[in-house]
Amino acid sequence: MSHDLFKAAKAATAFSHSPYSKFPVGAAILADDGKVYSGANIENIAFPQGWCAETTALSHMIMGGGKKVLEIAVFAPRHPHCPPCGGCRQKLAEFADASAQIHMYAEDGSVKTAALGDLLPMNFNADLT
Ligand code: THU
Repeated sequence: MSHDLFKAAKAATAFSHSPYSKFPVGAAILADDGKVYSGANIENIAFPQGWCAETTALSHMIMGGGKKVLEIAVFAPRHPHCPPCGGCRQKLAEFADASAQIHMYAEDGSVKTAALGDLLPMNFNADLT
């Protein structure tokens, strides 16, 4: 399944709108409904208004009816094994268990995988409020 997620994440980079950073990113989520939801980063001339590929993929998951992220693949052609930014880790944590798998791919298909809980330890979550 991870291999299909890589394909989907790679395909999503074609939709990246990243004229400012010239750093396309694609992401693909395997959700609890068995579907794959993908997304690309979408930048804006007012720089802080842009957002990441993982965020687009999460939005697609929510609007497609998926409730939970089981796995997510991230691919950035210019950064082998690109890790999700801090903000995206927090966004993922809203819809994923600590055991959710984050697959960070390189162009040749090699992958580094980490659990969300390892990338975002001691996170602010509903148990704390
Ligand atoms: N970016 C992502 O889409 N995901 C990440 O995990 C890291 C960064 C985007 C944001 C911005 O459009 C570009 O990469 C350069 O930072």
